[in-house]
Amino acid sequence: MDNRVIIFDTTLRDGEQALPASLSGREKLQIALMLERLGVDVIEAGFPVSSPGDFKSVQLIAKEVKKATICGLSRALEKDIDACGEALSVAEKFRIHTFIATSDIHVDTKLRKSQDEVVEMAVKAIAHARKYTNDVEFSCEDAGRTHIDYLCRMVEAAIKAGATTVNIPDTVGYTIPSEFGSTIENLFNRVPNIDQAVISVHCHNDLGLAVANSLSAIQYGARQVECTINGIGERAGNCSLEEIVMALKTRESLLNLQTGINTQEISKTSKLVSQLCNMPVQANKAIVGANAFSHSSGIHQDGVLKGQNTYEIMTPESVGINKNNLNLTSRSGRHVIKHRLTELGYGPAEYDLDEVYASFLRLADKKGQVFDYDLEALLFFNQQKHEH
Ligand code: KIV
Ligand code: ZN
Repeated sequence: MDNRVIIFDTTLRDGEQALPASLSGREKLQIALMLERLGVDVIEAGFPVSSPGDFKSVQLIAKEVKKATICGLSRALEKDIDACGEALSVAEKFRIHTFIATSDIHVDTKLRKSQDEVVEMAVKAIAHARKYTNDVEFSCEDAGRTHIDYLCRMVEAAIKAGATTVNIPDTVGYTIPSEFGSTIENLFNRVPNIDQAVISVHCHNDLGLAVANSLSAIQYGARQVECTINGIGERAGNCSLEEIVMALKTRESLLNLQTGINTQEISKTSKLVSQLCNMPVQANKAIVGANAFSHSSGIHQDGVLKGQNTYEIMTPESVGINKNNLNLTSRSGRHVIKHRLTELGYGPAEYDLDEVYASFLRLADKKGQVFDYDLEALLFFNQQKHEH
């Protein structure tokens, strides 16, 4: 099996869908160009039939982005697929992504159709999309809650109809990693033509398991992951691109899987998406949160100063952050104070470490975090005391 995992980014479709206000065409293009620089393989640019604005921005991205495959979403309806074909035809490489729900709850309650009718709709939609391109993706919406027998039947029919990627979404973030992994394993064991398509996963984060579920699916043979920057998306969001990519990279010796992502562009991309989408990133968010490379306790700071990998499993530079951050608080020890003063240009002869450390602790107890300018002020006042 191929060791390359395709990264399919849906920040501009699933992610944008969850924003209080939509992005302008220019903002979407700015994000798409950044995603291209980041090295994503497929950019899902939008849902062209949903509005004239979305159609135009998908078209704009299709025109301007050259390296990544540009994808548009469509229901399993001819008019949606035609809108995708039209918006995407200017692209160097494009994909039409069509979907229909497969779980009993969606088929009975939402679609109000029989299982046979749904298979028929999927097959017709895929065949129609193939008139525009050889790159057609089909998604079984709510696959996470779909009976495995029906899921196998649908996947087999979709591949036979011409889908080159078949996506298995955990639309409502309901599954757990062992269960989702075994769904993928079952598909590989039971669908006879499975090797004629790339199996993809698209996990939502309702139980905070989107990345874990995606990783489990990859271990059972999925080779495309659908994800978003900062994990933005419907409700609790989608699998976060930076987390799945860095999990694969950091544990490469165990997993033996690679992506084409230029990981040094991650931090910049995260900031751009956060700003344009007006979606702040929580401080303790893995990889891109403000605290992801910050160390606070004296024991950790001392360890990191002796060897960065004592408390860092990846370097900040590997995700485009200049350096880690050692927070100066009442938990900090002498070692980090001396280190910070050296960084600020003060040699050991210029201060009495015991004295500075004692006044640092008094200030930290009152103030919480102590900044460089506080430390310089402490040094100044201690020097003044000695001079008078
Ligand atoms: O969550 C989902 O099922 C989707 C599909 C349209 C792929 O976003
Ligand atoms: Zn989704």
